[in-house]
Amino acid sequence: MTIEFHPITAILGAEVTGVDMATADSAMCDEVRKGWLEHKVLVLRDQHCGVEDHIAFGRRFGELEVHPFATGMEGHPEIVAIHSGLKYDYAASAWHSDVTWREAPSMGSILRGVIIPPAGGDTCFADAAAAYDRLSPEWKERVDGLTATHDFINVFGGRLSDEEKAEKRRQYPIAHHPVIRTHPETGRRVIYTNRNFVTHVDGVSEEESREIIDHLERAIMDPSVQCRIRWEVGTVVMWDNRSTQHFATNDFFPLERRVERVTIVGDKPF
Ligand SMILES: [Fe+2]
Repeated sequence: MTIEFHPITAILGAEVTGVDMATADSAMCDEVRKGWLEHKVLVLRDQHCGVEDHIAFGRRFGELEVHPFATGMEGHPEIVAIHSGLKYDYAASAWHSDVTWREAPSMGSILRGVIIPPAGGDTCFADAAAAYDRLSPEWKERVDGLTATHDFINVFGGRLSDEEKAEKRRQYPIAHHPVIRTHPETGRRVIYTNRNFVTHVDGVSEEESREIIDHLERAIMDPSVQCRIRWEVGTVVMWDNRSTQHFATNDFFPLERRVERVTIVGDKPF
């Protein structure tokens, strides 16, 4: 099979043909990795493989992470299942990249559609490097050297007792990351704040911090740097968590939706 990348926009995302996750060898995975760096979000259709194949494919790209707050699948702690439809409230409906409160947030995730509603449940992605490029020179200058504080507590604290909170805090101390990080492989500059996990921009007033976070979020929210993925059962989406943000649409209640993901360990942002 020949692998082909069909760009979704000239900026972000590609539909990939010619890859079967279950049988892909390392030469093919090298091709996938190159395309992944370039397009940041890859969509593989009709991947009717099982949990084991999903995990094995993920391991081709690095060591897999176990999420400290989401419960893994029984026997497969590397798999996080996101199963929803029973409630209207949907946690991933805010622009974010994953686990930025970790000292070394994940490099990327590979998400597989298992139960897909007949309508709704798309995932939106934004190119955080293109969003940075489009900032004015004044704004680039203003945010280039700043760092921000990232904390898991707002999103995950509610489900923990005080004791558990203290224990998790010991394991995951508050992290400080550059507001604009540099992608370790492509060298591109990337907006790296998000409303879920960033509590404030370091060393500036509360008001200025709010202004900066709002401005950078608006840059991410520009539809011109985004793509939107419609799911089918067997669709697999892989995103570079270092250079993109995502948003899960909250528009399928009361329909059921289940996606399963593996996540690849990343490095400390600089
Ligand atoms: Fe997420």
